[in-house]
Formats: sequence, C-alpha cells, structure tokens
Amino acid sequence: MADIVRFGVSLENALLKQFDRLIRERNYTNRSEAIRDLIREELLKKEWTEDQEVAGAITYIYDHHQRDLLNKIIDVQHDFHDVIKSTQHIHLDHHNCLEIVAVQGNPSSISRLSNTLKALKGVKHGSLNISGIGQIA
Ligand code: NI
Repeated sequence: MADIVRFGVSLENALLKQFDRLIRERNYTNRSEAIRDLIREELLKKEWTEDQEVAGAITYIYDHHQRDLLNKIIDVQHDFHDVIKSTQHIHLDHHNCLEIVAVQGNPSSISRLSNTLKALKGVKHGSLNISGIGQIA
C-alpha cells in the first residue's frame, strides 16, 4: 500500500462502541479498513450526486414467456447503448432468465436505464450496483 498517513480521531465513547459493533458485524478486521470503506462510499456518493462517470451492473430476472418482454428489453438496451458495456444472459430454468448488464457512464443515464428495465412488466428483482471507475483511492 502506498503512502499511508496516520491521523487521530476523537469521538464519544458510546459512538465508538456502536461503530465497533457495526464493524464486527461486517467482518472488518480493524477500524482503519472500516473507515477507509466508509470514506470511499461517501466519495462515490459525491460522484453520483455530481453526475460524474461511474461504472456498475444492473441485474434482473424475468420470465421470457412474458409476451413481448424480450423485444422490449432489447429496445431499451439499444436506447441506452452508450452506457451499456456488455450484457450477460443466463437461462436459470424453464421460465426464468437472469441478465447482468455492465454499465459505465453518467449516473443519470444509468439510473434511468435501471428504472426503465425494472418497470417493464415481467421483470422481477431488479437491482443496480455502482462502483467508481477507479478515481477513488
Ligand atoms: Ni433465457
């Protein structure tokens, strides 16, 4: 790891106890790693709200027997081709398909794409996961 800086943090005992309980539940090995992740999360939120470029994945499950759904999904994906990097399709069982759509671009387009897909009749369990594009240390 490059260029580590140590700094002191002062906080109320009760707050520290709650924090330690939280990081235990999340399996962090030490406070530093937990604080690093919290900082990264806040920086990512800032990138998101400032509509800076982010990357991530939209996943959803749908019934491919649902009338016209497949064509609608493909139409939506073409409308958002500028933010879609790749799509992966998995045939889960006789009815259900899982699709993973890798995205990169501005948060407003990505969330519009995610919401449009999730709103299609027959699409279930949609979720959007976002990471930075490597700008955050
Ligand atoms: Ni399928």
